[in-house]
Amino acid sequence: MALSEATVKVIKQAQQKMPMPRSALLFALRTVQIDEGQVGPKEVEALSELFAVSPVQIEGVARFYDLLSGEPKGRHHVRVCEGVVCVMRDADAIWESLGTQMEDIFPTNIVALSRVACLGHCDHAPAALVDDSLVGPLDHDDVREILEGIVGRDADYD
Ligand code: FES
Repeated sequence: MALSEATVKVIKQAQQKMPMPRSALLFALRTVQIDEGQVGPKEVEALSELFAVSPVQIEGVARFYDLLSGEPKGRHHVRVCEGVVCVMRDADAIWESLGTQMEDIFPTNIVALSRVACLGHCDHAPAALVDDSLVGPLDHDDVREILEGIVGRDADYD
């Protein structure tokens, strides 16, 4: 099975707490994303067995959500909002700055960058999601701080 014993155990515990085991699917998808770094074909197959539903159904739910990925993207993920409010408050410049500064700080593919729809953090525009933390309003000084913060938190970074 593509999932670790610990991941399977956590998912089964969640299934037992739900009125219907399949109600734990979103929790399971999020858990797999965190533990395995992706919800790829092998993970979908394993979840299909655990939930006794077809892989197509698992895949359909997994591909609906931006925060789940079918391939490994890096240990950390910075998602910059491209919603209207954030774009009006210079999110495009933040995005450009992140890309440029990331090349200076991370020689390897440790951090994935992506643009996402509104994060629901419009009152803090321009906003971003750094791993699981919402941040904003961002300015150019924050960009370097975010990237250096990731270096500080990443025990494997050298
Ligand atoms: S438009 Fe960016 S958080 Fe809503």
